[in-house]
Amino acid sequence: MSTRRKVVVIGAGPAGYVCAIRLAQLGQEATVVEREFIGGTCLNVGCIPSKALIAAGSLLDKLSHASAMGIHAENVKLNVDELVQWKAGIVGKLTGGVSGLLKNHGVKVVMGTASIESKNSVKVTSKEGTQTLQADDIVIATGSIPIEIPGFAFDEKDVWSSTGALAPKRIPGHLVVIGGGYIGLELGMMYRKLGSQVTVLEATQGALPGQEPDCVKVIERSLKKMKIDLKTETFAQGYERKGDKLHVTIKTKSGNQVVECDQILSTVGRKPYSQGLGLDKAGLQVDQRGFLTVDKQMRTKVANIYAIGDIAGQPMLAHKGSKEGLVAAAVIAGQKEEYDVRCVPAVIFTAPEMASVGLTEAQCKEQGLSVVSGSFPFAASGRAMSLMETDGFVKIISDAKTDVVLGVHMVGPEVTELIAEAALAIEMGATTEDIARTIHAHPTLPEAMMEAAEAVHNMAVHIYQKPKR
Ligand code: FAD
Ligand code: NAI
Repeated sequence: MSTRRKVVVIGAGPAGYVCAIRLAQLGQEATVVEREFIGGTCLNVGCIPSKALIAAGSLLDKLSHASAMGIHAENVKLNVDELVQWKAGIVGKLTGGVSGLLKNHGVKVVMGTASIESKNSVKVTSKEGTQTLQADDIVIATGSIPIEIPGFAFDEKDVWSSTGALAPKRIPGHLVVIGGGYIGLELGMMYRKLGSQVTVLEATQGALPGQEPDCVKVIERSLKKMKIDLKTETFAQGYERKGDKLHVTIKTKSGNQVVECDQILSTVGRKPYSQGLGLDKAGLQVDQRGFLTVDKQMRTKVANIYAIGDIAGQPMLAHKGSKEGLVAAAVIAGQKEEYDVRCVPAVIFTAPEMASVGLTEAQCKEQGLSVVSGSFPFAASGRAMSLMETDGFVKIISDAKTDVVLGVHMVGPEVTELIAEAALAIEMGATTEDIARTIHAHPTLPEAMMEAAEAVHNMAVHIYQKPKR
């Protein structure tokens, strides 16, 4: 064990606070500097509040379809203030919990804006004044912010960023969403379920660019079923307020058009945040896309300065940032550790949900891998039927020679939970045979994983496949 090191972590999001707690667990002296809110984007204006509202939207939607089960939930009313208060309560409990954990572990929390003065000192500015913290090591975990496009400055009145969309005063009559990626579809579908008419403007040829194409097809079908108007190869040019309506000018393949709506939500991506951080004072600079380059031990090119989370590169996901935080803490504490993962799962809380881990077929092809795949549809799952959620499938891609699982892609009920088994399988180097031989409890959704593993060899029991023999 090395000597106790003094570490300043800048940013208390899921990368920074996890790193600070692990540093304390490993006997280091950790201070976290946070300018806005403990828990960062994720707990305050990201993962947690969005999933709370999405759960509320799903419940409302389920009630409106429950008559098929003989449940007639007439006159169900949504009180937006109460919904927002409920969501705020969840955020409060979680951020309070994290503050408590930091305190109990003996991590010092300094509220204020940090800037690097040198490779061993950090200045913190707050309403109370400034102070300088000395550090053996600095961990940068300053996260990311939403990208603004010309003509759509976030005023959180006419034009919401995701933050505005998570604290509505009312449910807009017609919501125009710019960007059909993660946030655009999660929140666009959520608002549709809460009663809005929704139009999504997407610059590329389809929703969720870069995601597994067969899964995306199911989502695009669902958008149609939900009567969400997805306009592809479309760019928003600007908008004008006319009375109580907003007129959005859009450029499409067939020329310019105007879409009238009540609210705009702009979600065209996020960019790493390091403004005013004084990176140059430590001899650091960001790359062209604004990220800090790190090695496998999360070190920047300055040996005692680490970067983790969204600022350290794609994918900009909370769990990837937390993992990097654990690695940085272990390295600082003198352990032999590095970021050595085979895969990072991705989950998208659309309707139905989508989840992926490992390689897609296209990526396997690029890498010259010879692969086989098998799919199992939720339409053949008793559990999915009992949940009235039969859209979607589980698809497993494995190495044709070794049978080792290379990628798993799912769309359907609760797949954001199901993907954990697939991530474990890939990390453990499991084969489809390992998955198929594992007894999966009945009747459960994970049986679809077992059947998809069998389907790779045309041996799924609950769908007909011509035996390979
Ligand atoms: P952040 O969470 O952004 O935290 C950085 C912290 O640093 C902030 O609190 C900031 O105030 C602070 N900071 C910045 N500069 C300074 C400074 N100079 N001094 C002091 N403090 C500073 N990811 C998922 O994995 N799953 C999801 O379901 C998911 N849903 C999302 C939904 C929405 C609407 C959004 C916007 C994002 C979502 N994400 C999700 C992404 C996820 O929130 C981020 O990947 C994650 O928060 C990144 O963690 P981080 O610690 O790197 O940065
Ligand atoms: P995104 O990158 O997922 O999607 C942005 C979309 O906007 C893309 O489809 C892009 O083609 C489109 N676009 C870009 N410019 C445009 C323009 N001018 N007009 C129309 N469309 C345009 O970014 P998003 O949704 O803002 O989310 C940011 C990040 O936050 C995600 O990439 C992800 O890392 C994280 N996130 C993760 C979630 C999860 O894990 N469930 C949920 C929400 C966010």
